[in-house]
Amino acid sequence: MRRRDFVTAAGAAGLALWTRGLFEGAAAESHSSIPFGAAVNDGPLQTDAAYQKALIEHCHLVVGEGGLKWADLRPSPSQYVYDQPDRLITFAEANGMKMRGHTLAWYAAMPDWALQLKGEAETSRELMTHIETVVGRYKGRIPSWDVVNEALSDDGPRVGLRESVWSSSLGEYYIDLAFHTARAADPNAQLVINDYGLEAATAKSSARRRAMLDLLRRLRDRDVPVQALGFQAHLPGNEEIDKDEVSRFVSDVKDLGLDVLVTELDVIDDQLPADFKERDAIAAKRVGALLGAILDVTRPTAVLTWGITDRYTWVPIWYKRSDGYANRPLPLDENYREKPMMRTIKQAVAGA
Ligand code: G3I
Repeated sequence: MRRRDFVTAAGAAGLALWTRGLFEGAAAESHSSIPFGAAVNDGPLQTDAAYQKALIEHCHLVVGEGGLKWADLRPSPSQYVYDQPDRLITFAEANGMKMRGHTLAWYAAMPDWALQLKGEAETSRELMTHIETVVGRYKGRIPSWDVVNEALSDDGPRVGLRESVWSSSLGEYYIDLAFHTARAADPNAQLVINDYGLEAATAKSSARRRAMLDLLRRLRDRDVPVQALGFQAHLPGNEEIDKDEVSRFVSDVKDLGLDVLVTELDVIDDQLPADFKERDAIAAKRVGALLGAILDVTRPTAVLTWGITDRYTWVPIWYKRSDGYANRPLPLDENYREKPMMRTIKQAVAGA
């Protein structure tokens, strides 16, 4: 059953049957099914009716591809521009979906003025005020936040703390501060630490899994209120998923008392064969391997792709194909037709 049919049928039957959970009201299709969603691009949300229709048809959850990032929200120290997130949450709520929040503390998508923040006092004050203001504004309406995004470095074989305006003044403590402030601003929201490069059968990915686990252990030892690890899961199409190691990693994360979810799933296909059928099959296989590795251990609290259609995707910004063919990283093709990846995702989220 498609989400739209289901919402109608469920509405008629009365929604009181729903399991109470994190994304309550997001119309999960059974007690055991996993809410599915996608990142939304603000441009086509306003102009492309087919895009809106696809989101309504397929998604229980949405997250802004931008809009809540500092660069979008904070053009100057005194301004908070809520146009994009307000537009998205209005769309979500009108269509029975929930919105996730992305993101509160990241090194990238920062306005110039915020990159000039200096010293412990100024930097922590600004980070806290931002989180109190933004999380507070959507308190009770955004059930899950990517509080800290991409905390791990990515510039060599040793994985450490990523350099940012936050870490340069506050060190790792910026993570503690961000989570404590978010927790105080909305005691009921799921607070997520979100990162990429945790899935592949490569030395680099293995080092990132180790570094993330070490970080999560330190956060646990300091009583930092992190509730879940988000696998961004921008899966490099030419790298195998290390199913055993991902399962072991998920199991270690669960042992720390944390949930997991998939926040930005897509397949980076610049190195994959040109042939669409072949390419789509490999992409679906990667997605199936990742979701399978997680599901072997636990039920992720949500699965979201970073976009819904190949028509609107960030992938060619960094990973344009050299043969001139368009990228195909997402579950629907550019004409909103379901690809094998969508069938794999549906099976995984329905059957858990
Ligand atoms: O809004 C401006 C527009 O006014 C201007 O004309 C245009 C010209 O380049 O740029 C527009 O801004 C772009 C923005 O996306 C909105 O489309 C930025 O240049 C561009 O850098 C920005 O890219 C986003 C990127 O994060 C940086 O914020 C991507 O759409 C978005 O998909 C990407 O998402 C990240 C996640 O947040 C974190 N994980 C990785 C993921 C993919 O890179």
